[in-house]
Amino acid sequence: MSRTGFIFDLDGVIVDTAKYHYLAWKNLADELGIDFTQEDNEQFKGVSRRRCLELLLEMGNISVSKEQFDNWLEEKNEDYLKYISGMDESEILPDVTKILGYLKEKGIPMALGSASKNAIPILEKVSLLPYFDAIVDGNQVTKAKPDPEVFLIAAEKLGLEPLHCVVFEDALAGIEAANIAGMVSIGIGDVNILSNADHGFKDFTEIDFNFINDLIILLKNKN
Ligand code: BG6
Ligand code: MG
Repeated sequence: MSRTGFIFDLDGVIVDTAKYHYLAWKNLADELGIDFTQEDNEQFKGVSRRRCLELLLEMGNISVSKEQFDNWLEEKNEDYLKYISGMDESEILPDVTKILGYLKEKGIPMALGSASKNAIPILEKVSLLPYFDAIVDGNQVTKAKPDPEVFLIAAEKLGLEPLHCVVFEDALAGIEAANIAGMVSIGIGDVNILSNADHGFKDFTEIDFNFINDLIILLKNKN
């Protein structure tokens, strides 16, 4: 039995869906007359759909009824689903399949730890679902990142102690969640933004098998 588990965020780590979330929020923001930039979108990464809408409405100083709130949530998601409907393997981020394949070959347990309620259909579209031994998504968590709940459930599902797990994340809130969980955190994206990660890489093309092997040994020997 392996003493090491690898946990991956989905949006912005495995697939480039962060851009579709941005476009869908931008469409709603335009409709509501709220100025919404790519920079604003950074705060939305790793954050639940509901919390994103709260943030957007705060930006526009808009208060709404529960019914209107739920309608806009649905509108954003329907728009997002249109963007992702045509997704296929070509939208897997560079070298992700190479690393997942290497870990699979080595028999290392892998889990998904995502805030998205659309995680399973996306993994199916890009044919990556079979790599994962456990899926934890937005349908199962009650506390959003930076709360470590999503990663702690993932570790539990893999039957591993948190200290034997590593998390790959593109969101500040996700790195914080991994750190609080006592896991090794790997930032994927802008290393200046993700400076609180234990390790940082622009993308998976910068990660080689030696790094993965060293990580496995380090995690295995942690007590
Ligand atoms: C996260 C994204 O993975 O999932 C967030 O980084 C998104 O931007 C969140 O808001 C929820 O996703 P969904 O698919 O349930 O709206
Ligand atoms: Mg993400």
